[in-house]
Amino acid sequence: MSVVKIVDHPLIQHKISLIRDRNTGTKEFRDLVSEIAMLLCYEATRDLPTEEVEVETPIALARTHVLAGRKLALVPILRAGLGMVDGMLSLIPAAKVGHIGLYRNEETLEPVEYYCKLPKDIAERDVFVLDPMLATGGSAIDAISQIKKRGARHIKFIGLIAAPEGLKALHEAHPDVDIYVAAQDDHLNENGYIVPGLGDAGDRIFGTK
Ligand code: PRP
Ligand code: URA
Repeated sequence: MSVVKIVDHPLIQHKISLIRDRNTGTKEFRDLVSEIAMLLCYEATRDLPTEEVEVETPIALARTHVLAGRKLALVPILRAGLGMVDGMLSLIPAAKVGHIGLYRNEETLEPVEYYCKLPKDIAERDVFVLDPMLATGGSAIDAISQIKKRGARHIKFIGLIAAPEGLKALHEAHPDVDIYVAAQDDHLNENGYIVPGLGDAGDRIFGTK
């Protein structure tokens, strides 16, 4: 059974409120996206396997646990997913990073692919697909299909804000994929933007508008 989890920790809720604010500037917005990604990473890695080791403390021998060496990969969806990479890497620094370039056709809202470069051994890795916004779900569905075509089987999606429409579409298209988001919003408007959302995530991260 896959997980659809709204991670509503108070620190995350606070930071999500700040990034929604239209008066939050580019630098602060970028820092907050990275911090929220780090907090989501903490939750999304909760089921990583561990193994027991012995460690000598200054006092005695301790039986304790370390990560069992699972291979991980991050795949941000360009552009806005890039804003989540550093926060994720701060907790899982050994992860490899692939990239998938997609943008939405503004009229049809269909994703248009323009780039895909993934680690060679992606099929052997647990993959975290990163995108702050899950609107219609088209971009995430397409990105995950591309990753599956290359053999990956353990995939999680991590986002900041989701529309109910996107959550449903992604869960139906890829029922095996766990979904972690910080907030579920009300609906999509006629232009496919999440309401209330935070506007255009890519433009706000990179200051392009
Ligand atoms: C945004 C966002 C997602 C996509 C979500 O990207 O970062 O990738 O829209 O919408 P969907 O769920 O309806 O597919 P955008 O197309 O604006 O491209 P950009 O990141 O290059 O600005
Ligand atoms: N992409 C964004 O950046 N924001 C939205 O609200 C929807 C898609």
